[in-house]
Amino acid sequence: MALGAASIDGQRFRRVLGNYPTGVTVVTAIGDDGNPAGMAVGSFTSVSLDPPLVAFLPTKSSTSFPKIRTASSFCVNVLAADQEPLSRGFAARGGDKFAGVSWSRTPSGAPRLDGAAAWIDCEFESVQEAGDHYLVIGRVRHLDSDGERLPLVFFQGGYGRFSPASLVAVPEPDFISHLRLADLSRTELERVAAEVGTECLAIAAVDDQLVVLASAGTPSRGAEYTRVGQRMPFVPPIGAPFVAWADDDAVRAWLTRAGRPFTDAERERHLALLTRVRARGWSISLGGGETGSGTQGELLDAIDSYDEGEADGRERVQRLGVELAHRFEPEHELEPDAEYDVRLASVPVFGPDGAVVLTLTLWGLPHPCTGADVRRFLDIALAAAHTIGKSLDDRSG
Ligand SMILES: Cc1cc2nc3c(=O)[nH]c(=O)nc-3n(C[C@H](O)[C@H](O)[C@H](O)COP(=O)(O)O)c2cc1C
Repeated sequence: MALGAASIDGQRFRRVLGNYPTGVTVVTAIGDDGNPAGMAVGSFTSVSLDPPLVAFLPTKSSTSFPKIRTASSFCVNVLAADQEPLSRGFAARGGDKFAGVSWSRTPSGAPRLDGAAAWIDCEFESVQEAGDHYLVIGRVRHLDSDGERLPLVFFQGGYGRFSPASLVAVPEPDFISHLRLADLSRTELERVAAEVGTECLAIAAVDDQLVVLASAGTPSRGAEYTRVGQRMPFVPPIGAPFVAWADDDAVRAWLTRAGRPFTDAERERHLALLTRVRARGWSISLGGGETGSGTQGELLDAIDSYDEGEADGRERVQRLGVELAHRFEPEHELEPDAEYDVRLASVPVFGPDGAVVLTLTLWGLPHPCTGADVRRFLDIALAAAHTIGKSLDDRSG
């Protein structure tokens, strides 16, 4: 039964609003006495991209906010899952909240807590009254995140952590139509991630990009999570499974995306990669044993900078891709007892017309793993890809 405004008491208000989960931040600043001040805040939100604004709502009864208010800048520290004790400390009234806490300074001078999942360095834009709270708007000056840390979560008065079974990308106009595929793949994606014990991605080719449509599970080694919605340039040797079964025009278009004309030898090498993917039915790229030129780590950095819209991102991926082509689709078959550093292992999902519509891509596999392990992981992924392909057939028929 819905109750009218007159019946809303504080307890009920808190209980009902507690159904809305939040992250946990600690807002910090250096007070005018030169000492750091901070308070735990769940009411943090982003407000505007242009200009970049964020907001939080401190209660008027807070003894820390008046100290924060005297500073010209403040830092919003997004707590990581293992920082629950820090949240408790900063939610307590009084005492030296910074005792035993390690921190450094943001570019604007506010305290940045070590180990946080993200930090957002702001100047005060405005402070307005909002009932028994203030509404503080901050203008973002600097920010960064640590992609490897999962956030601490607050829900119904308790702390928890975020562990997605699977995530599907927020629709963007150019890949809305592909998201139906991601939805259809979700159960299989979750199953593969659980059986292999690593992160499994559903990736689609959209024009000249590859887009991570969905992700399940967590990388088994220290690799970073892949952000759903992440875009990668679809340039050789990246995306080979989307081209290996395609017609000559698609192969030519892929080779042309290298950014510069290939020498005959480079062209032959890339065509040989496609032949191997087709013959094997899967695609892998190996790390390790790197000397001199580019490394897989640099390639991942370049892919990130492309995704973040940096001007030279595509060109860097193109250059490193060609330098590292020998790490993709190794010529020699995997030996069951040999150990490998497998960066990516992908299998194709075929649509009703025989074209590759998705790849299931294993990311963050254990390192090292034996050739026999890799074959087992690939077999799990291939079975899932077959099931997804079959459900696409059933729907189109
Ligand atoms: C998870 C969590 C979220 C909180 N969110 C807010 C908030 O958004 N605004 C607020 O004023 N207090 C919030 N608090 C409470 C303050 O942290 C706490 O009342 C305050 O820091 C008390 O100490 P002070 O007097 O030093 O400010 C939150 C506490 C916790 C544990």
